[in-house]
Order: sequence, then structure tokens, then C-alpha cells
Amino acid sequence: MDTYIVGNWKMNQNLSEIKSFFTEINAIPPKAGVHAWIAPQTMHLQHCLKTASVFLKIGSQNSSEHINGAFTGESSPTALKELGAYFTLVGHSERRSIYGETNETVAAKTKTALENDLIAIVCVGETLKQREANQTLQVVESQIAFLKEQGFSEKILVAYEPVWAIGTGLTASPEQAEEVHAFIRKTLADMWTEEQAAQTPLLYGGSVKPENVNELLAQSNINGALVGGASLIASKFKQLYQL
Ligand code: PGA
Repeated sequence: MDTYIVGNWKMNQNLSEIKSFFTEINAIPPKAGVHAWIAPQTMHLQHCLKTASVFLKIGSQNSSEHINGAFTGESSPTALKELGAYFTLVGHSERRSIYGETNETVAAKTKTALENDLIAIVCVGETLKQREANQTLQVVESQIAFLKEQGFSEKILVAYEPVWAIGTGLTASPEQAEEVHAFIRKTLADMWTEEQAAQTPLLYGGSVKPENVNELLAQSNINGALVGGASLIASKFKQLYQL
């Protein structure tokens, strides 16, 4: 399977930082079989679409479960698609913990994103408290349960991001990450078919950087990385997608 390196810029990067970022990487395409995607702030989407090389796919960090209407401050998936967004993150842990998104919201957002032809990267992961209480697999299972009803789509990717590893410098060990990834693969195979589960990219996220990406990607069920901090630095991001 191909490898996906997805940068999540969160609410970072100003226009001049974006300019120098793309100036540094625009001439350096990924290796064959590797895809490099970036999710900037929504208001920088259009600018990034104009500035980034075509090999870089640009997407959104969030997408509303509604396509239009009285939803102040939200971003419509039809508007994102119209603008040229290629994908959207759905249910990032910061959306869940800071903005109260539930598994139901995440299910609705995934459905509307797919209906509007956006690739959906569904983010899941346990908190430290849940891991310590041995609830990791149960939490992740509940977060992907909606995919049974949603059904298989080639436009679904799943990103496992243990909350305790996001932005903390702590990374799940390759074995810890692989255990959850293998569980996600099996759960998807039970909900869909084995072939469909096998062709669904599973990304790991949580303090991924050039120094640890190889050992993570060496695991049989890890097909890519969702990268926050290291994706803001052009030299690191290009190292990640050149691996
Ligand atoms: P991090 O963020 O790489 O800075 O830990 C990952 C994410 O939140 O997607």
C-alpha cells in the first residue's frame, strides 16, 4: 500500500511562513508511492492551493456536518470542495476535547464530507487516563463503530492518534501503535470485508518526526503519519515524505 504523510498545521503559519515553506519544498516531490498532504487553517486554504506544487494535496482540518444554513463560523464541505480542498480531517482530538465533538458528530461529518467528494481522515485515539485504565481498544472501537453503517469507501482513511502523544513529545512505541492499528484493521474487516480493510490506509499520529517515522512505518499496519509540530518545518516535513 502507498504511504501517506499528512501535515496538520492546526492554527499556525502566517502568510510569509507559508511562502517560505512552499519555496523550500515545492521543487521536491515525494518518492514514488508516497503522498504528501497538508491541512492549513481554513482561511489559508485558497492561498495554499495557489502556492503549493501540484504534488502537494491541500485539505481542511474540519468540515461541517451540514452543507449550508445558519451555522455561524462553520465550513461547508461543498464550499471546501468548490475551493479545491482534496481531503478533510474529521474528529481530531482537539475538536473532540475543545469543541465537544462526539462520535455522533464525527459520524455525521464523515458522511457529509464523503457525500461531497472529500476524502475523510477519521481521527481516533485514547486519553492517558483511558490507556491507564486499559480501555484503549474499547475507546478506539467505539470511535470507529459508525463506519459499519457508513460502509466502506476508498475515500476513508483512519488516523490513530493517542491523545497523550499529541504535541507532547511522547510517541507511542512502534509496538504500542501497531497493536492498535492491527486492532483497527481487524475491526474494519469485521464491519466490511477483509479486502476493504486491507486497502484502508491507517495513519499514526502523535509526535511523529524524521527521527521516529521509519520505525513506525516499518510496522505492518501503519501506512502513514498525521504530523502536527514537525509538519510546520519545511526541512522536517520534506524529510518525512522523502523517507
Ligand atoms: P503532533 O500533532 O505531531 O504535534 O504531536 C499531531 C496531530 O495533532 O495531528
